[in-house]
Amino acid sequence: PSSTPVIAIDGPSASGKGTVAARIAAALGFHYLDSGALYRLTALAAIHRGVDFKSQQEVASIAATLNASFLEGMILLDDEDATETIRSEAIGEGASQVATHPLVRQALLQRQRDFQRDPGLVADGRDMGSVVFPNAVLKVFLTASPAERANRRHKQLIAKGESAILTDILQDIEQRDARDRARTVAPLQILPDAKLLDTTQMGIDCAVRQVLNWYAEII
Ligand code: CDP
Ligand code: CDP
Repeated sequence: PSSTPVIAIDGPSASGKGTVAARIAAALGFHYLDSGALYRLTALAAIHRGVDFKSQQEVASIAATLNASFLEGMILLDDEDATETIRSEAIGEGASQVATHPLVRQALLQRQRDFQRDPGLVADGRDMGSVVFPNAVLKVFLTASPAERANRRHKQLIAKGESAILTDILQDIEQRDARDRARTVAPLQILPDAKLLDTTQMGIDCAVRQVLNWYAEII
């Protein structure tokens, strides 16, 4: 129902949105929407079917019929475990390309809104506060310097045993952010009614506490 509270957390790549949003959802007992995963799954499904990211119509029909399930800590695409596959930088890049198409965004809109269920929802992405949940009770713009975000992503990849070059990651992140900010539909932006949280020098616990404090102030 539309009276169900939504906390929208938007921001650039590797700012900590997913980590912070999932922690807040757990603390409040709310549902959690990782909207970026839907764009990542669309890119992965397009690759599987040999569809060019630039073919808006075809990619939009893939998005509209996406057979994805979000289970506890696991994401399935056509019953295949895609949890790790969609986290690669290549899929992140593909996601940001398919995300520029208005028809793709339209195809994913209702699916995202369906996550708004009692007792509440924490949603992270780029346009949670602007397009998908404009009536969110709390909108947070979570960010950190590009260098710090590249460091975080680098550490994350190394911890998973993947090879990663810091300067390449920084370049990928800056390129993806620029595309997300420049696109005409649902660009990444700091909304006038959003609370800005710069975590360049802030740990996860502190960021979570700040958002929970803001939420406590409005309920
Ligand atoms: O979802 P998003 O791409 O914005 O970021 P994430 O995957 O939640 O976070 C990227 C990495 O940064 C994770 O390994 C987090 O644990 C880490 N992180 C951090 O070190 N300090 C923060 N304040 C927030 C996240
Ligand atoms: O974890 P990270 O922040 O790097 O990426 P993500 O949140 O999984 O999103 C991957 C890409 O999907 C982004 O670069 C955006 O282009 C796109 N996206 C979007 O356009 N709108 C959203 N609500 C979420 C993601």
